[in-house]
Amino acid sequence: MSTLNGKVAVVTGASSGIGHSIAEALLDRGARVFGLCRKIGRIPEAATPVSCDVRDPRRIAHAFEVLKAATPTVDILVNNAGIAYLSSLLKGPVEEWDEMWEVNVRAVALCTKHAIPMMPGEGGRIVNVSSLSGHRVPPTGGFYAPTKFAVKGLTESLRNELKAANLPHQIGSVSPGFVDTPLVNTYFRGREEDLSSLRQKTRMLDPEDIARAVLHILEAPPHVEIGDVVLRSGDQKV
Ligand SMILES: NC(=O)c1ccc[n+]([C@@H]2O[C@H](COP(=O)([O-])OP(=O)(O)OC[C@H]3O[C@@H](n4cnc5c(N)ncnc54)[C@H](OP(=O)(O)O)[C@@H]3O)[C@@H](O)[C@H]2O)c1
Repeated sequence: MSTLNGKVAVVTGASSGIGHSIAEALLDRGARVFGLCRKIGRIPEAATPVSCDVRDPRRIAHAFEVLKAATPTVDILVNNAGIAYLSSLLKGPVEEWDEMWEVNVRAVALCTKHAIPMMPGEGGRIVNVSSLSGHRVPPTGGFYAPTKFAVKGLTESLRNELKAANLPHQIGSVSPGFVDTPLVNTYFRGREEDLSSLRQKTRMLDPEDIARAVLHILEAPPHVEIGDVVLRSGDQKV
C-alpha cells in the first residue's frame, strides 16, 4: 500500500493539465484530494472541489477556511496553478505580468502560508510546480521565466525558514520542460506556426510524466527530502 493512502492533499489548478494528472495520481494512491481552482466542475470526480481564484488573497484565505471546516489537517500541498503568457519585457502587456506574478508567485507563497499551520506534527510535504524556465531563460522567456525563477527562490527560502523554526515539513519542486497541456497554446498564442514546428520536432512530455515525478517526491522515505526534479523531453532543444 502506498504511504500516501489516507493522506490529505490540496492541489491547486486541479482542473486541467498537470494539476489534473497529479490529483488523479494521488487519488489512485488512496489520498483524499481537494482541488483548488476556478473551474471546479473539471477536477477529477473523486476529488473535493474548493472554488478559488488564486489571484485574490482574500479568496485564498476564504478557501483555506473552507478547507479547515472539512479537514483538521493537510498532509500535502501541491502548488501547481500557473499561467504562461509570452509577454515581452520590452512590450508587455503589463496586465499579463500582473496575472503571472499573482498566480505563479504570490499565490504559491500565500497557499503555503495558509497550509503550513494545518500540517501535522510529524511533518507535511509541499511540492511547487516550477519549470525548466526557472533554471535557464529561453529566448522567449519574457516575464514568465522570472516568475519561475521566483518559485525556485520561494522553495529554497521556505526550506531555510522551516529548518530555522524546527518545523519538520519538507519542500521540493518539479521543473518540467514543455508538457502537452492547454498552457502551451496560451504561451504560443499568435505564434501558432512556431508551436506546430515545435510539435513536429519534439515529443512533449505528458502531464502524467510530471505526476510520476511528484509521486517520487511525495513517496520518498521520511529522511529523504528531494529538492527538485528537472525533466524534459529527450528531444527538447532549448
Ligand atoms: N505545460 C507546460 O509546458 C509547462 C512546463 C513547465 C511548467 N509548467 C507549469 O505547470 C503548472 C500547470 O500548468 P499546465 O501546463 O497544467 O496548465 P493548464 O493546463 O493551463 O492548467 C493551469 C491550471 O492553473 C489553474 N489556474 C490558472 N489561473 C488560476 C487562478 N487565477 N486561480 C486558480 N487557479 C488558476 C487553472 O485552473 P482554473 O482555470 O480552473 O482556475 C488550471 O487548473 C503551471 O504552474 C505551469 O507554469 C507547465
